[in-house]
Amino acid sequence: MDNIYWGNFDTIGKYDRSLFEDFAAQSTEEIRQACCDEQGKLVHLIKADHFDLSFLETICETAKAARKIAKVDFEFLKGLLKHKSVLNYFHQPSSRTFLSFSSAEAYLGMRREEVRDMKTSSAIKGESDKDALRTISSYFDALVVRHPSDYFDLFALWVMKHSDREIPIINAGSGTKEHPTQGILDYYTIQESMKRELDGMSIAYVGDCLRGRTVHSLAKIMSRHQNTTAYFVAPDHLQIDAETEKYIQQRGTIIHKETASLQDIIPLVDVIYMTRIQNEHGGAAEYDPQFIFTKSMLEEMKPGAILMHPMPKREEIDPAIDYIHKDQRVMYWRQQRNGMWVRVALLAHFFGVDEKIRKKYQEITLTL
Ligand code: NCD
Repeated sequence: MDNIYWGNFDTIGKYDRSLFEDFAAQSTEEIRQACCDEQGKLVHLIKADHFDLSFLETICETAKAARKIAKVDFEFLKGLLKHKSVLNYFHQPSSRTFLSFSSAEAYLGMRREEVRDMKTSSAIKGESDKDALRTISSYFDALVVRHPSDYFDLFALWVMKHSDREIPIINAGSGTKEHPTQGILDYYTIQESMKRELDGMSIAYVGDCLRGRTVHSLAKIMSRHQNTTAYFVAPDHLQIDAETEKYIQQRGTIIHKETASLQDIIPLVDVIYMTRIQNEHGGAAEYDPQFIFTKSMLEEMKPGAILMHPMPKREEIDPAIDYIHKDQRVMYWRQQRNGMWVRVALLAHFFGVDEKIRKKYQEITLTL
């Protein structure tokens, strides 16, 4: 429960905390149900293990439709959610996730505001995170939240369950554990670029598999497919965390751990998913040269394989790769842009306008 601020008063803090601990101790299934409405529709997006293939498929379809519609009928998208509002509440630095959410909200015509500098918040006056979240729910219709605590997604859900105005919580990254919207945009990128079924695919996750929350979310999502293989390519001290490993293994993913070098893995996989060392959580930032993706490795990739990175990148990818023009294997710039369309689709899902987007796309394709 590190990093959650319980306020200035010990007795109140202890009281709230013990109630939250009871909530967090529920089974995974109970938590999933708490994220769904009575019809079983996902109304809070906090954990990657809540997404089944049909949900993922629908979001991908909506994202694709929105992307195409934006080119021909921008005003249609803009009119969809102009009566809705959202707060982008970012307790941790963010470029892509923040900007792509903000752009997605603008595409849908939403009123959007942000809190990114906690020095401007009433926490300074001793207000707890619990009261801050409840306050936010009075003014907005959805909350996009990023926070350094591994538990903040659950915590925000818990607060909403006790609020008179429960608004959707969208986890934009919580601690080292989860980054579910990144997981979906990565999944969308894989789906759009692969000229093959995703069952039977193999992915190499390279770098910080222990604390890379994007790795955890994507690995869980991919384990929904049959016969997938995950290679975790990282030194021992940054190898995949026990919880993710257990989860994907139970779903039938074959796991390999490679602790010496990236080289031999390149020809074996369909996706190479590079990550940076998450040294904000401690330890050194230096990348072991054995795990750097070099330009020559592009030639050793399987035909049709792609190179991804959730970004920001540092030394883990050879800088020369950025100067190759429009290489179909290098996917991380497109992956960033995909994030915006996937977030359009997610917001449309929460506010029930996703079907309108898919229908509009059908109409457009019929008239072309
Ligand atoms: C990632 C994150 O914040 O976890 N970035 C992102 O949201 N695209 C990965 C990272 O910071 O390394």
